[in-house]
Amino acid sequence: MIKRIGILTSGGDAPGMNAAIRAAVLTAAANNIDVIGFHHGFNGLLDNEYQTMLPQHVQHIIQYGGTILKSARCKALYETEGAIKAAKALEELQLDAVIIIGGDGSFRGALSIAEHYNGQIIGVPGTIDNDVDGTDYTIGFATAIDTALDAIDKIRDTADAFERIFLIELMGRHSGYITLSAGIAAGAEQIICPEFAAIKPDNLKDLIIPIQHAQLLRGKSSYIIVVAENSYPAGTTALAEALSEALGIECRACILGHIQRGGRPVGADRILATKLGAYAVEQLIAGAHLVMAGEVNQQLSLYPLAKTGDKTKQIDPYLVRWQQYIASD
Ligand code: F6P
Repeated sequence: MIKRIGILTSGGDAPGMNAAIRAAVLTAAANNIDVIGFHHGFNGLLDNEYQTMLPQHVQHIIQYGGTILKSARCKALYETEGAIKAAKALEELQLDAVIIIGGDGSFRGALSIAEHYNGQIIGVPGTIDNDVDGTDYTIGFATAIDTALDAIDKIRDTADAFERIFLIELMGRHSGYITLSAGIAAGAEQIICPEFAAIKPDNLKDLIIPIQHAQLLRGKSSYIIVVAENSYPAGTTALAEALSEALGIECRACILGHIQRGGRPVGADRILATKLGAYAVEQLIAGAHLVMAGEVNQQLSLYPLAKTGDKTKQIDPYLVRWQQYIASD
């Protein structure tokens, strides 16, 4: 019987985390369950930083990016000592279960704690990267695409005016989800993701030939290459410099960075977060443990927490194939 649960947001914040917190708190209240919210991710467990979460604390937060609980990465959890301390904090607060909203790194932290904790643990996938197995989409991904898209559209205006080549770097850590989606939606001329053949200083011709071809075919016009972070060893700015030199035309680099993590969550993220936050509480009541609440083919489902980082989820193969043959045309 669950009487008291803890909740925290961990790792890179994602738009929609607040909506997930809200849904979990409201669902818990409707089931007479008390909720404790930990601040700054797992650090709140180690430093005793927490607050009671009542429905009034989550009023009118659904529309805001960031997380009212704050987030952080917690290196202390890499050590057994840290995991034991975190588990002890949960036991001392008499928490029957805990909800971790974050990515697969946060779920690894949760699994370490589980080795020393007698209560239940459930994950809710919250990261802009969409690189978590066991759910079609993670909370924050849809908003991040729209944010990136808005920026790429704006860069297209100036790129058109100057007939320039731009390389725009998007986030995703080691995944090309944001880059492929935003690149396709923006009509980018080329897309570079970790999932594609690696671009190295000695095979720049794979990038250059399509650019030269486009220039011959269409004359001078803007040309946008979206690049997932970590795709080129020396970084996107260095890639733009190498291209400038090879082509004899100035190429500009634009690193979008953390702007992609902010902003009001789009409707799709608010709805996904509401479903997953509510479902996590309902599944804890039903006895779920060491699983993640996700959505696959529009069906809410549970997935083993230990498998969420296996990286078996693939970026859309149809779009990959299409992008590759139009870019090389
Ligand atoms: O996981 C979310 C994310 O924004 C990644 O896309 C990015 O690689 C990383 O976090 C950046 O982390 P930090 O905010 O610690 O620089």
